[in-house]
Amino acid sequence: MNKTIIVSNRLPLQVSIQDNSFKVVPSVGGLATGMKSVHAEGNGIWIGWSGIPENDLRPELSDEIDSKIRDEKCVSVPLTNEDIEEYYEGFSNRALWPLFHYFMEYSNFEQKEWEAYKRVNEKFAEVVIDNLEDGDTVWVHDYQLLLLPQLIKDRKPNTTIGFFLHIPFPSYEIFRTFPWREEILTGMLGADLLGFHTYDYERHFLSSVKRIMRLEVQFNEISYHDRIIKVDSFPMGIDYDKFHNAALEHDNDSEEKSDLRKRLEEHISEDKKLILSIDRMDYTKGIPNRIKAFEYFLDNYPEYKEKVRLVMLAVPSRSNVPQYQKLKRETDELVGRINGKFATVSWTPIWYFYRSMPFNNLIDLYTSSDVALITPIRDGMNLVAKEYVATRTKGNGVLILSEMAGASKEMNEALLINPNSYEDFANSLKRALTMPLEEQQTRIKFLQKRLKRYDVEKWADEFLKSLEDTKNSKNENVTK
Ligand code: ADP
Ligand code: F6P
Repeated sequence: MNKTIIVSNRLPLQVSIQDNSFKVVPSVGGLATGMKSVHAEGNGIWIGWSGIPENDLRPELSDEIDSKIRDEKCVSVPLTNEDIEEYYEGFSNRALWPLFHYFMEYSNFEQKEWEAYKRVNEKFAEVVIDNLEDGDTVWVHDYQLLLLPQLIKDRKPNTTIGFFLHIPFPSYEIFRTFPWREEILTGMLGADLLGFHTYDYERHFLSSVKRIMRLEVQFNEISYHDRIIKVDSFPMGIDYDKFHNAALEHDNDSEEKSDLRKRLEEHISEDKKLILSIDRMDYTKGIPNRIKAFEYFLDNYPEYKEKVRLVMLAVPSRSNVPQYQKLKRETDELVGRINGKFATVSWTPIWYFYRSMPFNNLIDLYTSSDVALITPIRDGMNLVAKEYVATRTKGNGVLILSEMAGASKEMNEALLINPNSYEDFANSLKRALTMPLEEQQTRIKFLQKRLKRYDVEKWADEFLKSLEDTKNSKNENVTK
């Protein structure tokens, strides 16, 4: 039976070595959390990095780790410390990530890291080829593996290959500054179908293909050598039922309450509100901006002192990359300053958690919060915004969402803001805190309907169906 091979930098599980044993935890991030349910239900395999450097892998543990990974229908690509430093922390997260998110000043282009990026994409290609059988479909994900589609196509030209980018594709004016722009586009064009979260990213990509590669583009099809490559937008959804049902169980009072939930409930009352933000600790997420805007809000609406609390969960991410270390220091400093400025003996304005949390605690946070503040400076999609909405089983709650998140394109009933405007921010927060229940319910109802209809399974089905169509039209052309 033919299978679908998912390939991404990170596997949905992350292994870490502790003394003489190892620990496996779920990976954090939209790609892993979103694709996990798609993978669990399919008959395919997932190829990616397990999170530990090959150098740390003890021979006595490696068989056990491999078998644990295999049980999860995964295959790991071994990466050395050098690969991680140069390909992952280096090229992927110091060159591509900032540039694709319009943080040009953070982008650092090093020849040595580019060489590592090519080397590691080759490593992934080898593992894919080893696991590939005739008739299989390969679905490659994200910016860490932009060269992989072409590497597979070179070796196995008949394989049907899909590629999905989970981050924005920047405008031509930004992308053209990239030193290896042609190589990157050539790598991507190995795919038969290229998917993006939004129409804007798709348009930016096609514009770069036309202007840099000088290829013929008709509507959303690219003619390249003897192939037609299709490009389309597929806004990624969430596993709606998983979040909604977990919240319903949470509503059930017979459930034993977690400590976090008990603490949160102590702070909920008619006139006291919780405002939630959840992100990876990443400079694209606009965390310092959000804290400063919250300060602006408290300065301008002092009647909310002691009445609101910002619960801010930031998950450690890419902490070996200097810009992320700087962001962590800045966030710690800002939270300290603002709490110092406003706190009273009975109130701390910001509750700040810098850690990962188990799923049930995430649900505790989502279900306890009156307002979600999701305000990235730039974000490919943002699934947290969708998860918050899915957990609003009683229909109350307000989502404040940045216009710069891909999710804003499908979530018009949220309060959309420009995250760079403190005024916009503060006014929207005031509006959210005073919004009549009926209006909250109407907005949430519309949002939920859309999220439920276009969930992650539907998203994957549509992508794979479109990929299948490209395969069929390829075959038709061959037989003509
Ligand atoms: P990104 O892909 O940039 O990290 P998204 O908002 O699209 O951003 O996805 C983040 C995912 O990570 C969500 O599915 C969310 O539930 C999960 N997540 C975020 N914070 C935590 C946390 N502290 N613990 C566990 N999972 C988290
Ligand atoms: O969704 C974007 C993304 O970069 C994924 O590719 C990635 O898995 C996730 O965010 C988390 O980042 P990382 O894998 O670097 O921890």
